[in-house]
Amino acid sequence: MCGIIGYTGKKQASEIMLDALELLEYRGYDSAGIALLDEKEGGTKVAKCAGRVKDLRSLCTQKDVSGTCGIGHTRWATHGGVCDSNAHPHRFGKVTVIHNGIIENYRQLIEKYELDGKLRSQTDSEVAAAVLSRFYQGDPYAAIRKTVLKLKGTFAFAVLFEDIPGKIFAVRNVSPIVAASTEDGAILSSDVAAIVPFTTQYFVVPELHVVCLSRDGIEMYDLSGDRAGIEWMTVDWDISRSDKGGYPFYMEKEIMEQPRVIEETVLPRVKDGKPDFSAEGIGDDMLTQCRRICVIACGTAMHAGLVGKSLIQAMIGIHVDVVMASEFMYNDPVVDGETLVIAISQSGETIDTLEALKFARKCGSPSISIVNVKGASIARASEYVIYTHAGPEIAVASTKAYTTQLAVLYLLTARMAIARGLWDEDKTKRYMAELLRIPRVMEEVLARKEEIHHIADTMLNARDVFMIGRGLDYSILLEGSLKLKEVSYIHSEAYASGELKHGTIALITSETPVIAVVTQEKLKSKELSNIKEVQSRGAKVILLIKGGEVLEQEKIWSRIFRLPVMEDEFMVMPASIVLQLIAYFVSLDKGLDVDKPRNLAKVVTVE
Ligand code: M6R
Repeated sequence: MCGIIGYTGKKQASEIMLDALELLEYRGYDSAGIALLDEKEGGTKVAKCAGRVKDLRSLCTQKDVSGTCGIGHTRWATHGGVCDSNAHPHRFGKVTVIHNGIIENYRQLIEKYELDGKLRSQTDSEVAAAVLSRFYQGDPYAAIRKTVLKLKGTFAFAVLFEDIPGKIFAVRNVSPIVAASTEDGAILSSDVAAIVPFTTQYFVVPELHVVCLSRDGIEMYDLSGDRAGIEWMTVDWDISRSDKGGYPFYMEKEIMEQPRVIEETVLPRVKDGKPDFSAEGIGDDMLTQCRRICVIACGTAMHAGLVGKSLIQAMIGIHVDVVMASEFMYNDPVVDGETLVIAISQSGETIDTLEALKFARKCGSPSISIVNVKGASIARASEYVIYTHAGPEIAVASTKAYTTQLAVLYLLTARMAIARGLWDEDKTKRYMAELLRIPRVMEEVLARKEEIHHIADTMLNARDVFMIGRGLDYSILLEGSLKLKEVSYIHSEAYASGELKHGTIALITSETPVIAVVTQEKLKSKELSNIKEVQSRGAKVILLIKGGEVLEQEKIWSRIFRLPVMEDEFMVMPASIVLQLIAYFVSLDKGLDVDKPRNLAKVVTVE
């Protein structure tokens, strides 16, 4: 949460930072600000305000924001409300700071350093700035080291010292910072996305290392003051993939990209007609020796895990738990050396998932992470990583990351089945052929976008929407429902359809649209009966059903979408696209900011 940018070089920093903040806005968008070192007059200039980056941009037209070295921030409020004074950067004495994370002991620090009455904001971040300012006596490294040792919590700081022209200092604990050299200087950010326009070479600043950026390059020291080496990485994201590509919102663009990114995720991992993770270093031992699997993830990534659970339990016959990462450690988790832990995360920075993964590793569990962002904290904290090749996902609502996570889970399940000797050549061939067909099937659904738009229209004025299904259908509805809530603000609940009659059916009225998904042959008759139950209570049913078969029952739907046919276990893919598009169109037609729903942020780095 919170986007961070810093630039030092020969160009005007404000323009570069404002552009970067727009790219980073998905991390938080309640306020924004920049600070620039004034190389002529000395001192630091700050422009900040509550609101979006566009508001900051217009504020900057009224202020002197010239300068070639600066830091910028886009905020997702944790401590202190949304107002100009709580926006970052925070200046205290000679230091100006931007911060991502939470300083847990800020109250103790206020007391210890007698800061009461001296602070201008309600933020924990300004407290850190004040402590840093107290320790700063000309040696930035010493001051940062001393400050860091006093802080409890998570942080990524970028700092300007007003008497050190042209230099940006940064340090982090848990919260991410990446840095890179540019042709005329250097840049740092919370995200690779902001680096991509400048270079493909970057590095992840290691935890508790102090990095200094200047026009002459980048230096890094550990907390004992020893110079540290830099581990460069290459980003393979294409910059053109970070724009909206002619669509009104990133969410639509990202939905439309799914056939391509699924292909890019799957094809490099198929050798001789079989899934292959040798490039990731994942040997078959790991997949054959575990007795159970525990998936840890949050939100959409957790919903991908639920699909993985159904696949693995059905095909491998081993027990899979899917645990909300935010709850993992508070429920006395039972994981051990025989439990393969799979952490799933688009950003690779979700702190709940990261902490749960670290905990599981301490318990001796082998681990694989499925991550979209190269070099992210979760990727580095796990033993092995499988990258989804979804490319940058900018819309807060996750779409293509979800389906690429599913694609990896399909591959992993198959590799596990083959490694355990459960499938013969024929079964492998059929499964892999179906897996490779996903992109084409997705294209078929995407080509029917307008049909889905009409279905979405029926939900525009709804106050509540229910989504019902069983088994795999229920798992994908959990995701479909999250998507609808997130971007349209319509209350929506996914319900296992057999469970409705145990209470929730009381909420169904003629005003409640119900989306029912029926894709699993073995569950079909029961699902259809459950649909009749809600229909009898007046609900208007939107039926997503596999294929074109004629239903024996009288008409039980008010709208129907016939999904292209795949083997049952793959029907998740076409059905998910329909649910994503329904959520998208409802949000679009309500005139909402589809890509930046209220109160949310793309990367959740606070617990
Ligand atoms: O980056 P991650 O995949 O770890 O993020 C997990 C959730 O925060 C994320 O999936 C969230 O639920 C999405 N906004 C849903 O669209």
